[in-house]
Amino acid sequence: MRTRKLGTQGLEAAAIGYGAMGITTAYGAADEAGGIAAIRRAHELGVTMFDTAELYGHGTGSNETIVGRAVAPFRDEITLATKFGWVLPLNPEKLYDSRPEHIREVADASLRYLGVDRLDLFYQHRVDPDVPIEDVAGTVGELVEEGKVQYFGLSEAGPDTIRRAHAVHPVSALQSEFSIFERATAEEVLPTVRELGIGFVAYSPLGRGFLTGDVKPAGDYAEDDMRRNDARWQPGNYEKNLAAIGQLRELAAGKGSTVTQLALAWLLAQGEDIVPIPGTRSVARVEENAAAADVELTADDLARIDEIVPHGAFGARYPEIMMPRG
Ligand SMILES: NC(=O)c1ccc[n+]([C@@H]2O[C@H](COP(=O)([O-])OP(=O)(O)OC[C@H]3O[C@@H](n4cnc5c(N)ncnc54)[C@H](OP(=O)(O)O)[C@@H]3O)[C@@H](O)[C@H]2O)c1
Repeated sequence: MRTRKLGTQGLEAAAIGYGAMGITTAYGAADEAGGIAAIRRAHELGVTMFDTAELYGHGTGSNETIVGRAVAPFRDEITLATKFGWVLPLNPEKLYDSRPEHIREVADASLRYLGVDRLDLFYQHRVDPDVPIEDVAGTVGELVEEGKVQYFGLSEAGPDTIRRAHAVHPVSALQSEFSIFERATAEEVLPTVRELGIGFVAYSPLGRGFLTGDVKPAGDYAEDDMRRNDARWQPGNYEKNLAAIGQLRELAAGKGSTVTQLALAWLLAQGEDIVPIPGTRSVARVEENAAAADVELTADDLARIDEIVPHGAFGARYPEIMMPRG
């Protein structure tokens, strides 16, 4: 798989990455065996960036432990990314914690759970309104000096926060939601990250699965599947979003690809500095996703996608209480 440069500080990754959240969190029952098999197949196919977080283990490190075990045989060939600062339980009073002492605690715990001696990419998961970003960048900078972290990342930060952080310690990657269904967030920050030489990692690149077309109405998902409450799945929005998928699928079929691959290829076409990290617990789906790296979209294809989905999905991407404020 072709490699992309993520910004100008040396961070590189194969065009399609892998996101591990769904192995334990957000989309129904955990599937450790499926996750490990998917991660190992992704590596065989050339995927090099693997993404996890403190949050995905619900404070137990379970997601990082699974990822660490899965990548152990090839750890030195890949980039392991994890994130700090979004704490559970989801408490409306205090969702985020980027106090320097907490960042240090998470770094040590993540090293232990992953079974490694360095976190290749350490992101702040969400901007913490109670901690100046300069203190966050300074703390991660110290961890870099100590050799515990290689690259510093931010997630869902806005242009001003990115600039302030970057002035204290270089930011190598910004990870934010970006897909055919969610464009506004990336459009707001891409000029800034490009000016500063920061790479862009696109999370939920398949719109939490909607862009694969393998969807069902909200009420049909398990109790612990966040799509039960996702506005894009609610009656009214669901039907309109599904109609768009039908048209995208037709366009994809005309190119001999699937709608999933079209969605990932669309992201790759938005710039050479973008790496999507689709998540799956299935080997067959990893294979489908990795093959998207070879799907080329023409200017006409891109224009047709804009015509079908001019402003992203119907329905907000997060409930108001969880909406990131960077
Ligand atoms: N920084 C942040 O705040 C943040 C937020 C969300 C996510 N992320 C990261 O981004 C990664 C990806 O995002 P995501 O997992 O939310 O959403 P996604 O990649 O857009 O979609 C994942 C969903 O799509 C399904 N899927 C994947 N490939 C498929 C295929 N080829 N055919 C049919 N279904 C397919 C998966 O199901 P199965 O697992 O059942 O295959 C899963 O339900 C996460 O794993 C996480 O690492 C970061």
